[in-house]
Amino acid sequence: MRRRIWWTLGVIFVLLLLVQIVPYGRAHVNPPLRREPSWDDPETRRLTVRACFDCHSNQTVWPWYSNLAPISWLVQQDVQVGRRKVNFSEWDRRQEEAGESAKTVESRTMPPWYYPWGRLSSDERAALIRGLQATIRNETSREQKAEERDKR
Ligand code: HEC
Repeated sequence: MRRRIWWTLGVIFVLLLLVQIVPYGRAHVNPPLRREPSWDDPETRRLTVRACFDCHSNQTVWPWYSNLAPISWLVQQDVQVGRRKVNFSEWDRRQEEAGESAKTVESRTMPPWYYPWGRLSSDERAALIRGLQATIRNETSREQKAEERDKR
């Protein structure tokens, strides 16, 4: 019985070593910062940095275990998909889903449950919802004004 346990642990260990060879998930690229939205308040930015930036900005802080397959694959996937959906460092391009930001915090889909660093108290959550709404409202009216100006 004991031998079987050691054997199984040994196999798992060798598999974990082998899986490190896969090159995916170790690039850890942080592209240049382009433009952030004009935040309504420094507090909104502070909360967004804490709860969202690791997956939705070009300022991802890559933890040590993000070098360790298979965790690295999941982290890589999250950052890649997250940045594509909303990227707070690239507000100079169209952010189709940015308008959903406050709603995702309200429904507690964002930050994801498996991301404990982003955990917010209920006061912080309320402040973030209000702040994201205000920030994105400002940005939208600014874009509209710019478009009207271009038309003239
Ligand atoms: C651990 C990574 C991670 C963190 C932290 C995170 N997100 Fe996301 N976010 C994702 C991923 C991955 C998707 C794509 C989910 C999908 O399409 O299934 C996503 C999608 C979104 C979307 C697009 C709408 C949707 O539901 O697909 C919005 C808006 C969003 N996130 C806002 C936020 C905000 C605001 C925060 C901070 C309060 C945040 N996210 C924190 C990973 C993250």
